[in-house]
Amino acid sequence: MGWPVMHSRSPMLHNYWFRQHNLAGTYVPLAIRPEGLAAALRALHPLGFAGCNLTIPHKEQALTIVDEVDNVARRIGAISCVIVGPDGSLAGTNNDCYGFVHAIRQEEPSWRADAGPIVVLGAGGGSRAVCYGLAQEGAREIRLVNRTLERAQAIADEFGGPIRALAWDERHDALEGASMVVNTTSQGMVGQAELDIRLDRLPKSSLAADIVYIPLETPFLAEARRRGNRTVNGLGMLLQQARPAWKAWFGVEPEVTAELRQMVEKTI
Ligand code: ATR
Repeated sequence: MGWPVMHSRSPMLHNYWFRQHNLAGTYVPLAIRPEGLAAALRALHPLGFAGCNLTIPHKEQALTIVDEVDNVARRIGAISCVIVGPDGSLAGTNNDCYGFVHAIRQEEPSWRADAGPIVVLGAGGGSRAVCYGLAQEGAREIRLVNRTLERAQAIADEFGGPIRALAWDERHDALEGASMVVNTTSQGMVGQAELDIRLDRLPKSSLAADIVYIPLETPFLAEARRRGNRTVNGLGMLLQQARPAWKAWFGVEPEVTAELRQMVEKTI
């Protein structure tokens, strides 16, 4: 469920798994206005749905609707996946941080969150999932840089631990000695200006990641690649976050295969 939702690549990916696992099901995009979210979620059970994923703008509002919110979704402050119980009860969880961490792991198996300072750019919903995931993985220092410092500070205050909020004009210098830099802002996405950051302080050994996947290679990642940095784009996060949803809905753990990735890439 989203508003808008028709651009979503999720139906293609879930329906690939339905075919692969020989399951008689289908995944449909549901365009739901924000004011209709509660009624739409309550209708899942009578309509025979096992659950749904939520995207913009529903992830936060759903917290006030479902019957049970797990710890991850509560900490992140957003629900990305709803599971319908046999009695029609609704449970909310968040698989975005799983998706981010597992995408990095799949593409960079030697990656470790505690390898050195990590710079996270942006402090919206995507950033909260990324910061939570990195902290859970044992990151020792997260330099959280955002255009609006207060939003970064709010995440740092809430999550505590390794997160330090920095002002936007510190973004270039914050890359000094970083083992990883992650863009979670909307900059670089199709239709948006490119991320305004100089990478000259970024060590050549560090990993550059973006949670944007349209385009597959943002100008930020292209520049990092030109400099010789390893890069991970946002598609893996989209694909990986779908796996635990299947486990919860159908008890099956589907794989992100090269074929699946290529099929989705071709549409971008
Ligand atoms: P999402 O939930 O997808 O992360 P969001 O909550 O709208 O979306 O957050 C978007 C992020 O991109 C924010 O960190 C935002 O910065 P602000 O908190 O200052 O709004 C960031 N962003 C958007 N436009 C930007 C720009 N032109 N320059 C820098 N950061 C920008």
